[in-house]
Amino acid sequence: MMSSALHPDRKNNPDRASSNKSGNASLHDLIEAGRLSRRAFLQRSLGLTAVAFGGSLLDGLVQFAYAAPAPVNGIGFDSVPANLYLSPRDDAVTVPAGYTARVLVAWGDSLTQAPHWNPGSAMTETIQLHTFGAHIDGMHLFPFPPRGSSGSPGAVNIRGLLVTNHEYVDPPLVNNITPASSYTTTSITLEMVRAQQAAHGISVVEVWKKNGMWEVKRPSAFNRRITGNSPCKLSGPAAAHDLMKTAADPSGMNVLGTLNNCANGHTPWGTYLTCEENWNGYFSNETGEVAGANDPEQKRQILTGQARYGIGKGGSGYRWHEVDARFRADLNPNEPHRFGWVVEIDPWDSRSTPTKRTALGRFKHENASCVVDPDNTVVIYMGDDERNEYLYKFVCANKYNPRNRGANRDLLDSGTLFVARFNADGGGEWLPLIWNQNGLTPENGFADQAEVLIKARQAADRLGATMMDRPEWIATHPASREVYMTLTNNNRRGSNPPSGNSIDGSRPAGSARPPIDAANPRPDNRYGHIIRWRENMGKVDAIDFEWDIFVECGDKLDPQPHHRGNINGDDYGAPDGLWFDQDGRLWIQTDQAGDATGDWANIGGNVMLCANPSTGETRRFLTAPKYCEVTGVTSSPDGKALFVGIQHPGEDWETHFTQNSTWPDSGQNGPTTASGSPSKPRSAVVVITKDDGGVIGT
Ligand code: FEO
Ligand code: CA
Ligand code: CA
Repeated sequence: MMSSALHPDRKNNPDRASSNKSGNASLHDLIEAGRLSRRAFLQRSLGLTAVAFGGSLLDGLVQFAYAAPAPVNGIGFDSVPANLYLSPRDDAVTVPAGYTARVLVAWGDSLTQAPHWNPGSAMTETIQLHTFGAHIDGMHLFPFPPRGSSGSPGAVNIRGLLVTNHEYVDPPLVNNITPASSYTTTSITLEMVRAQQAAHGISVVEVWKKNGMWEVKRPSAFNRRITGNSPCKLSGPAAAHDLMKTAADPSGMNVLGTLNNCANGHTPWGTYLTCEENWNGYFSNETGEVAGANDPEQKRQILTGQARYGIGKGGSGYRWHEVDARFRADLNPNEPHRFGWVVEIDPWDSRSTPTKRTALGRFKHENASCVVDPDNTVVIYMGDDERNEYLYKFVCANKYNPRNRGANRDLLDSGTLFVARFNADGGGEWLPLIWNQNGLTPENGFADQAEVLIKARQAADRLGATMMDRPEWIATHPASREVYMTLTNNNRRGSNPPSGNSIDGSRPAGSARPPIDAANPRPDNRYGHIIRWRENMGKVDAIDFEWDIFVECGDKLDPQPHHRGNINGDDYGAPDGLWFDQDGRLWIQTDQAGDATGDWANIGGNVMLCANPSTGETRRFLTAPKYCEVTGVTSSPDGKALFVGIQHPGEDWETHFTQNSTWPDSGQNGPTTASGSPSKPRSAVVVITKDDGGVIGT
């Protein structure tokens, strides 16, 4: 069970026995409170009164103001049945009749003219540096021609750069060790760790449609690996701060690598944003000490910060710290400060240095949804994915320049970071994380703006932000700019004894037991929900917003009413990936560990669904191989090729690599570079097309 320990997203809800079922009764009151507030908001923002216009018209306006438009050309496919894994053939990606899903690229596939990895052997750093990384997550297709160039016209829908995250690794799979449990006792070497580090990071892969089929173009001058050891820059207010300096980097400006790259974003100026999520798990504080901290208060602050971000003894079990002292948080207490950022990458320049943008705050970043107003104001919405963490918004100080790409190069270095408070009346506020305001002062542990950003979680604690049920992806409607966010689950919500994140930032990560609230209304929220909001007057940089809950996920057959949800269509839970296509269809991807057992007996395995944001109607579009999560989605601009990630098929194997899955080398979704003799399950991207050449989802 080595692997699931490295995957904090696993949705087993082990301590659900402690749930407080008494929280049930107030649910309808809370929903009702939300309705009343939306009415009040409309009265305020439209200058109306219920007396003047009458109740029914106002109700219509409430609907109008909140309903995202229906997708252009609708949703036209027939649902795929839930995958209950009744046959070996079900260990596959299944899509609706009239669609085809084929493997495009998998872990270890060469990006150069050098050979592919043989999955029957151990991965090495040397091989991994020219091959596709492990455990893919967020991705984006940058179409040719690049913005601002005069590239070949007509290639936009048949050629592009597919940029993918590689979130984490399963060490025994990388190092070829069985059974899985023996990884904890094996003699670990730096060579083994270097192979794992190289399997992390990002791949930039040129893909094209050749003879009617999408494939990797190799070699390509664009193809590139960025890993856990690639040189990266620090920029923005926290760069060069004392808390960022290490013995290896006295400047505090240069860091090796980016880690646990979960989901992503992209900017209108053609750069990729990759988000560092569970980076804490690579670090270990072995001794409880802080090297170089002679002042007891300084030591206390560092250790409190490590606990607030989940750094402890042993980490998540990677064991890197045993042979790579960079990951000893006691010996190198500033090295953890150099992770937990959003990293900007220019995929069009293979020599560019990835840049960690510290103005966006340090936490466990899920994704980064960049939105631009008609007046070129830029904001980025970001979730911190851990139980009881927060939703953030960054507002750029300067405007996007659509005519001069270079002018946007450092746009993400200046601006204001906000954190969200969801009020029970259906309104919400963005609270600014600005030094020397609202208690973010030296006496409370914030010496300057850099410390506010490095300790963003503690700053948000101080401001009284709303503790959420694990913020995952955020997606913004392409026309209305209404924003949607998945909240995947929270088994501590409504459990006893109740507790909250401490105002002084001293609560260890994920340990609070918040009572239910309007925005997180279910105790023991095992199936999750999707919340949405709309900024005041539609301005992305507004400081207040209105929100409602788009859907509560669940199983309509669950014996407990509060786990049944209110899905209009196919049931699902543990929503994670979330993305709007060009026509305004909302695509939802799931990450649950049940796979048709226990709480998931009716729901089946992991899925991707398509929802109409206007009506809530939801259809299951894709079912996945065993023991995976579906994560990462992007498309060609015309919507006719959909790229979807299948992460960690076969996870939680114990005795042999293919115990739980033989995908993709089983050939169930077309040939792979190792077809016919599955040695290991491998994360892979599939490309989905409609057999009649039409737009996906129609
Ligand atoms: Fe890496 Fe929160 O998912
Ligand atoms: Ca996940
Ligand atoms: Ca995720």
